[in-house]
Amino acid sequence: MILYDAQRHIFHLQTEEFSYVMQILEDGQLIHRYFGQRVNYFGDHPLVLLNRSFSPNPTASDRTYSLDTQLLEYSTNGLGDFRESAIAVSYEDGSSLDLRYRQHRIYKGKKALAGLPSSYGDDDQVESLEIDLYDDYLDLTVTLFYSLFPETNMLAKSVKVRAGQRAVCLEKVLSLSLDLPDSAYQVHTLNGRYAQEKLWTISELRQGKFSIESRRGASGHAQTPFIALADEQVTEDSGQVYSAHLIYSGNFVAFAEVNQLEMTRLGIGINDYHFRWRLEAGEEFQTPEALLSYTNRGFSGMTQTSHHFIRKHILSGKYKEKTRPILVNNWEATYFQFTEQKILELAEVASQAGIEMLVLDDGWFGHRDDDNSSLGDWFLYQAKLPNGLAHLVQKVNEKGLDFGLWFEPEMISEDSNLYRQHPDWAIQMAGRSHRFGREQLVLDLTKPEVCDYIVKSVTAVLESANISYVKWDMNRNITNPSDDLANDVKQEFYHRYMLGLYDILERLTKAFPEVLFESCSGGGGRYDLGMLCYMPQTWTSDNTDAISRLSIQEGTSLIYPTLTMGAHVSAVPNHQVGRLTPLETRGHVAMMGNLGFELDLTKLSTQDLSGIKEQVKTYKAIRDTIQLGDFYRLSTKSENEKAYCQVSSNRDQAVLTYVKILAQPESPISRIKLKGLDPDACYDCDLLGRSYYGDELMRIGLDMPLIQQDYQSVQYLFNKKRGENL
Ligand code: DGJ
Repeated sequence: MILYDAQRHIFHLQTEEFSYVMQILEDGQLIHRYFGQRVNYFGDHPLVLLNRSFSPNPTASDRTYSLDTQLLEYSTNGLGDFRESAIAVSYEDGSSLDLRYRQHRIYKGKKALAGLPSSYGDDDQVESLEIDLYDDYLDLTVTLFYSLFPETNMLAKSVKVRAGQRAVCLEKVLSLSLDLPDSAYQVHTLNGRYAQEKLWTISELRQGKFSIESRRGASGHAQTPFIALADEQVTEDSGQVYSAHLIYSGNFVAFAEVNQLEMTRLGIGINDYHFRWRLEAGEEFQTPEALLSYTNRGFSGMTQTSHHFIRKHILSGKYKEKTRPILVNNWEATYFQFTEQKILELAEVASQAGIEMLVLDDGWFGHRDDDNSSLGDWFLYQAKLPNGLAHLVQKVNEKGLDFGLWFEPEMISEDSNLYRQHPDWAIQMAGRSHRFGREQLVLDLTKPEVCDYIVKSVTAVLESANISYVKWDMNRNITNPSDDLANDVKQEFYHRYMLGLYDILERLTKAFPEVLFESCSGGGGRYDLGMLCYMPQTWTSDNTDAISRLSIQEGTSLIYPTLTMGAHVSAVPNHQVGRLTPLETRGHVAMMGNLGFELDLTKLSTQDLSGIKEQVKTYKAIRDTIQLGDFYRLSTKSENEKAYCQVSSNRDQAVLTYVKILAQPESPISRIKLKGLDPDACYDCDLLGRSYYGDELMRIGLDMPLIQQDYQSVQYLFNKKRGENL
């Protein structure tokens, strides 16, 4: 609920779990007062009033009030707050902003953000507040947008800047800036690299600034547009966690800054690297949306909040909260070397194994036999698939499988018809030579004709055959940003690229509502909420090794729901790290996400094939629980063991997955306590041949079997007993 106390000029935004409080001071400054565990009422708490000679005062006679020592709601540059400002501007005769409250509006529901992906909800799920701040000298309005989702404990925030009579350059404009009065926190981020994405990383906070960022034109493998501050003593189940996401897939920054008074400022938004946006008189700039949440239920509380919110208010379309097909992808099975016959053989075995979809990966178009050519030429490679795409799809469909197809639409190869016709469509910087990544260039999505070409060419393929799924890949980052729309006062390229991409995705996903879109960027190089708004799942990582996947999937699970996470069983030795892991472990780990297979099924031993059939059968029995249920990380004695529990939303079924990485002599006992079950219900476990009450499983726990080889795992299913008890 959003309350406004007109007498005390206090806004109180209240969910089931938190309160967010702001106050307008007499001078019109919007001050942040409180964000934390819900309070019923915010009384007359004094401001931070300090008499410090090095903190400048707006009024000469009052030395106690300074912007330098206040919790500010949306800080500006140059007028006495020395922390990292939320916004910075430059204009003909200056470079500061003095924003004062002008008016506000409160209403049911939430507006969409023009040109950008954002969260959404019905009028009974979300309430919004807009506060206009105004700079008199510049005639400039900054509108702060707050949309509160009381049941899912989330606050969506964004900012719109509108120039009045005077032109102005935005040098920086964050989506969210949050001031906290203390600094006893650790910073949690998801870092990594190609094939090792989303490693959960903990950093110490101290006076000064901690930040993560991307300058790649994509959120990237190395960083995720997410940051959390957690109590130093936080655990999985208790302790305060403040977390912020950015719904954006391009260059971003997220930081936590501690000032001289040990106050913390958390910020997230578009990176100001290569960013300068010029607003002519009357023009507007809309920032991406940030999501802010608070819990005192530890990391598990943060995870549950984030998962539920993303499933309900970020994912959209037919696959919003719908289970996903089990697929086989031919990439690691054949790479570029496939024929129609090979694909049909793969489909035949997949169909016998109960798999539901075949995805044809890279190499079906232009004359692509390796990664050096043809991107942009989205027409069939006739020599490879002489009977045509529609024919192949039909044959696959006849075997009872749906069909999915790989694209990399944002790219162009030098060796392509498209490049020969439109060399100027590749991003290029005047006077500089191209820089290549995987021998390819990036199309300039700031050009409307390029966006139209992509929509048209992908549409033509999707209309040519019965295609149920699209894997949308993106395999290099942007260099040579061309600001050719600009003069030297503009650096708009990177953001305009994102606007172009979002426009394409909006048009294509609207035009093909039945198609399941999966985003990919060499695995998880653009696994972010911006992409998830259009494409409800992501290829988590190119690393398909089950053991490497444990940390990748665990980091991913911290904020992103299982339903968004593609996870495949691949061959051994593993193609990325050469590891030999048992088929069972590969299956158990992949079954924690949206299960797929990525190996040549036609070359498997009878034993392995029957193992895969068994995995498919098991997955079908637990798919609702895995994809639509709740995910819990379970406590283990060391990092050498991992345990997770996935529980159906009605708590009728639970799946416990336990992996022991390296075997140990005299191994310590591994007693694992489950979470999320109904304590009073009785659950059968066929594998263990007995039943347990939920409270036993959660409070006493289960001893894991003695493991005497590396990379072993177990998966226990618990089904609620119907009728009688033990
Ligand atoms: C990178 C992806 O992550 C892989 O799964 C595969 O689709 C290749 N690109 C194809 O080029």
